[in-house]
Amino acid sequence: PEAITVQELANRMAERGADVIKALMKMGVMATINQTIDADTAELIIGEFGHTVRRVSAADVELGLEGEADIDDHLLPRPPVVTIMGHVDHGKTSLLDALRQTDVAAHEAGGITQHIGAYQVTLPSSKKITFIDTPGHAAFTEMRARGANVTDIVVLVVAGDDGIMPQTVEAIHHAKAAKVPILVAINKMDKPDANANRVRQELLSHELVTEEMGGDVLTVEVSAKTKMNLDKLEEALLLQAEILDLKANPDRSAVGAVVEAKMERGRGSVATLLVQKGTLKVGDIFVAGAEWGRVRALLDDRGRNIDSAGPAMPVEVLGLQGTPQAGDVFVVVESEARAREITEFRAHREREKQAAAGARSTLEQMFSKI
Ligand code: GTP
Ligand code: MG
Repeated sequence: PEAITVQELANRMAERGADVIKALMKMGVMATINQTIDADTAELIIGEFGHTVRRVSAADVELGLEGEADIDDHLLPRPPVVTIMGHVDHGKTSLLDALRQTDVAAHEAGGITQHIGAYQVTLPSSKKITFIDTPGHAAFTEMRARGANVTDIVVLVVAGDDGIMPQTVEAIHHAKAAKVPILVAINKMDKPDANANRVRQELLSHELVTEEMGGDVLTVEVSAKTKMNLDKLEEALLLQAEILDLKANPDRSAVGAVVEAKMERGRGSVATLLVQKGTLKVGDIFVAGAEWGRVRALLDDRGRNIDSAGPAMPVEVLGLQGTPQAGDVFVVVESEARAREITEFRAHREREKQAAAGARSTLEQMFSKI
């Protein structure tokens, strides 16, 4: 069951802790300021104080901590964040490489993606698309599921000579669960045995009805090898992005997600962050999951030093005190003291969570003040 400390509940309602304790006593619940109460009790208390209960995602709760909502007239168009998903060896990395005109796959150990990478592609029209690559191994299903949460559009890569495979189906499930539109790239069309219509037929049995079959799922026949139709794929993505009307406020402190994080010899903790709102700048103090840091350096997807990163931009960040986890929310805060306060709260909450055997590992539902 979900729970919240009395202190946290008081903070969210902007009420005094003592008043919340009193209200609890009236209900026959004896609790100290640091004790946790269950969600149902908290809901009653919130009603008691005349506030409205809103159940939100864990990410929203974290953002709500800063109480910053985006103001409509500050919203500006932002690039789409596209996650590439699909079965092992169907050509996800090759396709990204072709799109980037670089050759990451050739440098990967054994040609298999070992991490989630994030890149931004600037098109000749100067429009940008942010891509997130995901590993093809079943063992990394969880990472992939997280990838879908920061994603606006999923590109499902299906090898035209191989068709729908188990991890293609998994990817479809992830995309559907995340309620993200799916665009199908039928890859390896340069191969003589590639058959795009067979792929479209197979998609039908997973409730993906392509345009050719009277539905609304776009398919683009591509080849990462010959670079065939990559421009069509990009056009289709931009069109989809336009329909989604993606906007974010760049003029606020940054909020986003950790795409990957690791400890690197000589560099310390290094995280790839995807900025979702606001602009992240060198010198900013931020919290990422249970860790915090001060941005010492920002690097773009090609390792170049930059001063700031706006919405939908993936960046590598140096200056973390510890290593957060992929999928963690990051948020810029006003001071080191605030950063410590939040991370201590989260560390405490993490210990409590681990102590509660069998408890769900994610805080899907929490309370926030309206
Ligand atoms: P994982 O990351 O391991 O899941 O694989 P992936 O989906 O990223 O596939 P990757 O890009 O590593 O490509 C797998 C193999 O397919 C490589 O040998 C590529 O050279 C080959 N390949 C990818 N795209 C094409 C294509 O369009 N045509 C042909 N002929 N081969 C391709
Ligand atoms: Mg790959």
